[in-house]
Amino acid sequence: MSKIIPYGRQNITQEDIQAVIETLQSDYLTQGPKILEFEKAFANYIGSKYAVAVANGTAALHLCTLALDVQKGQKVITSPITFAASANCVRYCDGEVIFADIDPETYLLDYASVEKLLKAAPKGTYHGIIPVDFAGRAVDLEKFRALADEYNLWIIEDSCHSPGGFFNDSKGTTQNCGSGNFADLAIFSFHPVKHIASGEGGMVTTNDENLYKKLLQLRTHGIVKQEELYTNSIEFAGGDTQYPLWYMEMQVLGYNYRLTDFQAALGLSQLNRADEGIVRRRQIAANYFDAFQKQSFIKGHSGVVEGHAYHLYIIEVENRLGLYNYLRTKNIYAQIHYIPCHLMPYYRQFGWKEGDMPNAENYYKHCISLPMYPAMTDEEQQFVIAAIYQFYKK
Ligand SMILES: Cc1ncc(COP(=O)(O)O)c(C=O)c1O
Repeated sequence: MSKIIPYGRQNITQEDIQAVIETLQSDYLTQGPKILEFEKAFANYIGSKYAVAVANGTAALHLCTLALDVQKGQKVITSPITFAASANCVRYCDGEVIFADIDPETYLLDYASVEKLLKAAPKGTYHGIIPVDFAGRAVDLEKFRALADEYNLWIIEDSCHSPGGFFNDSKGTTQNCGSGNFADLAIFSFHPVKHIASGEGGMVTTNDENLYKKLLQLRTHGIVKQEELYTNSIEFAGGDTQYPLWYMEMQVLGYNYRLTDFQAALGLSQLNRADEGIVRRRQIAANYFDAFQKQSFIKGHSGVVEGHAYHLYIIEVENRLGLYNYLRTKNIYAQIHYIPCHLMPYYRQFGWKEGDMPNAENYYKHCISLPMYPAMTDEEQQFVIAAIYQFYKK
């Protein structure tokens, strides 16, 4: 195929383009009505009480660690098989990242490894957990919540890969990724390879009103514009009997992590097709699963899992480098998710080394993410499958 088949890509329709044009022609490019509209629609889709739109998923994570008041040296547990941002948000606040290994079956943060860490240290040693719905597979947050409550920890769910994903709790109730029913805060990214694209963009969801208010304030420089919160006097502000209309106060150190209105318009338009996208992703996953069942070159793969949002379709193979390079010659741009975070040079400086996370390190030797995006045609997928067969049957 002459066309490159990437591992993921956006799907922009005429409706999306129209939505952006309309917003560009409106009075607001930023700080306008599209933001709240997108937030409300997203919260409704996910099933959370509140949503806060932000500049990107990394900003979302940073706002979460700020809102939870992560302090210097506080220990936070996360997975080594994730994008670096899941860990970096702890470092932005000078906290300490503690990696716990993955479950080799699900590739998710391993509950038993986290429990072992917590049990081995006095209560109060750890402050939070950041589980990641890696590849789109939902973490069982009911279990993690119980553990977090026992050890007085907060949870940030990194749901960047899993809008539309879910797990069934112990009562059989469907629990959407990012719903806020178990995690204190959850975050999403709207990078083009994700389910919903807005160029750059992100969202924080929560059911906690207090955290919601903090996020809003931190997103815009730490500024409040509500009279009842002001601490300076009316006289200082320049009013007579009340605060003048222009007045506002910066009360804490915040950032500019806002999303623009035209990005929100794109996100909102994409959100309307989110369910369609998930259906197609699950179909693509089922096709891969059928094609590779019981093939000897597959070392193991997760099959078709209920509630999986299939941001990625990952297989573990022998001779991964050979396969990767062969696929490149066919213009199939598979990808590797992820190089274990604890072995990034930045994290090695804190003492992390090879052998610390055996499951994650073994997974990294074999994993490869195959093309997975709703706009991929059946023909393109068959081409990918055929290329993999050609490589292994040579
Ligand atoms: C698991 C995970 N967390 C966080 C992020 C950060 O999101 P963004 O790229 O929007 O900053 C990403 C995006 O790549 C991600 O995959």
